[in-house]
Amino acid sequence: MKTQITILCENLVGKLVGSGEHGFSIFIETDQGNYLFDTGNGHSVVPNSLVLNKNLKSIEKIFLSHGHYDHTGGLPEVLKLKGEVDVHAHPHVFLDRIAVLKENGKESRRFVGIPFKKGYLESLGANFILNTDFREVERGIFLTGEVLRKTPFEKPDPRLFAELDGKTTQDIFLDDQSLILDTDKGLILILGCAHSGMINIINHIVDKTGKGKFYAILGGTHLDFLTPEQLEESIKSLKKMKIEKIGVSHCTGMRAAFRLHQEFGDLFFYGCVGSALEV
Ligand SMILES: [Fe+2]
Ligand SMILES: [Fe+2]
Repeated sequence: MKTQITILCENLVGKLVGSGEHGFSIFIETDQGNYLFDTGNGHSVVPNSLVLNKNLKSIEKIFLSHGHYDHTGGLPEVLKLKGEVDVHAHPHVFLDRIAVLKENGKESRRFVGIPFKKGYLESLGANFILNTDFREVERGIFLTGEVLRKTPFEKPDPRLFAELDGKTTQDIFLDDQSLILDTDKGLILILGCAHSGMINIINHIVDKTGKGKFYAILGGTHLDFLTPEQLEESIKSLKKMKIEKIGVSHCTGMRAAFRLHQEFGDLFFYGCVGSALEV
């Protein structure tokens, strides 16, 4: 499968085009069709698609990595352009979610879940296809489904909570899914926020596909928001794997991105708005 992957929404702008936002979205062009992975927070997905010359009307499917607002907030803008389209996600994508943040000794609570009701999104053309298991969604394109949490060092973000069965509990992100493209050069793994743990996700994919050669790992890794031990243990595990390119973005955080650059040298790149990868 021939593939071109372009970052539409991201926190940073590194080229002369586009706007940054706290969000993530990737436009995927293949010889069997175009797809959208996540939609950003709603501010930049359409304007950035125009300046990057990526036609949102051409997408065959939308994949949602999880229910955070910064990955799902652009859905209405995309649906208003595209109309009817399949939207693949885990059923928990619709959970109410909050972040409890402490700044200057003050605690604040923010709603961080999907900002729109399912019915509204359906009225704009979304046809939700919900999955919990590993699934081939198109020939050579897979969604991870729920990822087993196995590594001792990958822990949930203690600031994030979800409402489940009427109770507010630590958000364990069963809906966290990543996308895999099986290309001639190896697997391309696209992460949303990697709330399941980047290493858990990679191990899950090796287990499900029987393949261990990754041409590229892209997307948000959430590595900077957890403990330094988690970052270092994750790097140790990554170094044992067959990976040709690591292009992190979004919730990776600068400190973690710099550490990855230090460790992976030329294999590393930062994926900002407009960054592209072609296979
Ligand atoms: Fe995110
Ligand atoms: Fe997230």
